[in-house]
Amino acid sequence: MSITCRSYGFTKEGAAVIAFTLSNANGLQAEIINYGGIITKLSVPDKKGDFDDITLGFDNLDGYLKGHPYFGAIVGRYANRIEDAQFELNGKIYELYKNIGDDHLHGGLKGFDKAVWIAETVQSGGDESLQLTYRSVDGEEGYPGNLDIKVTYFLSKDNELIIDYFAVSDSDTVVNLTNHAYFNLCGHEAGDISGHEVMIDADSFTAVSSKNIPTGEIRKVEGTPMDLRVLKPLAAGLSSAYEQIIKGDGYDHNWVLNTAGDISQKAAEVYERTTGRILEVYTTKPGIQLYTGNFLDEMGPCKEGAAYKKREGFCLETQYFPNSMKHKHFPSPILKSGQVYTHKTIYKFKTIKVS
Ligand code: GLA
Repeated sequence: MSITCRSYGFTKEGAAVIAFTLSNANGLQAEIINYGGIITKLSVPDKKGDFDDITLGFDNLDGYLKGHPYFGAIVGRYANRIEDAQFELNGKIYELYKNIGDDHLHGGLKGFDKAVWIAETVQSGGDESLQLTYRSVDGEEGYPGNLDIKVTYFLSKDNELIIDYFAVSDSDTVVNLTNHAYFNLCGHEAGDISGHEVMIDADSFTAVSSKNIPTGEIRKVEGTPMDLRVLKPLAAGLSSAYEQIIKGDGYDHNWVLNTAGDISQKAAEVYERTTGRILEVYTTKPGIQLYTGNFLDEMGPCKEGAAYKKREGFCLETQYFPNSMKHKHFPSPILKSGQVYTHKTIYKFKTIKVS
């Protein structure tokens, strides 16, 4: 694996943004910028060996600075929603920014997706990885504790984009980090994704309220469109009248993974028949949010002139469950002072070869 870098412009505050291109021996490439840790390009082969950029985004920094629905970004301090934009920890109430109705989404007004991270390339055993670090200070967006975060991106010879997250805090806090890449396995500008087939290894999911926040109910997928235990085209579920699909305006839910943090087991898979591209997801976290781009709405001009519309990209966000500090039976997102938050997620790309 090798890494090259180039200037990607400057933020309004004058901070230099650098783009790093990670390449492996098979020709896969991932471009990542230190603004938001955003994956700006991901070039992978199809069954004929032709490469396409399969992640949604912009051509330049300006697009990202103008605001966007978390394309490719690292999301934190707490991914997804926190109800009423507040939580209690050690008997104290912490008030957060309300950026989705009266609730808090993806870390607030200026989450980690808008931070300028310190970037360096790190050598280990002849391989290079990209290391991003950021200090989220005590009180930033309302969260307690100075939190030091390190995220590394590595592209393996087995066509895996491996993301490792670490964080430590000097006082008790909550942490839920993820990556919000939008994929379209036909190519970022290829349109509707409802022909993609999805598998999520989960017997249950966290049912949501009309505000799209888990109510605490862990519901069996059996007999519902949330049952993705074997590969199924998204179209079937997306067109169903199941109340959870109506509430999310499509899939925008957290599944309770049967893999339960066992990274040796495949948590999710997406197969796109016409290109033969396959994306597999492995993670140490207990949940995964499948979001089918329900709120993408004429996002343009984007990369190469694309104007992404509803359902033209999907996300698989590995995570603790949304709002999990409010439900004692959900895995706890509390990070105690001095303890280390760790999270590894692997996005593995494969193809079904034509014979
Ligand atoms: C997540 C949320 C969605 C939406 C998108 C970004 O996936 O669950 O509701 O906020 O991010 O638009």
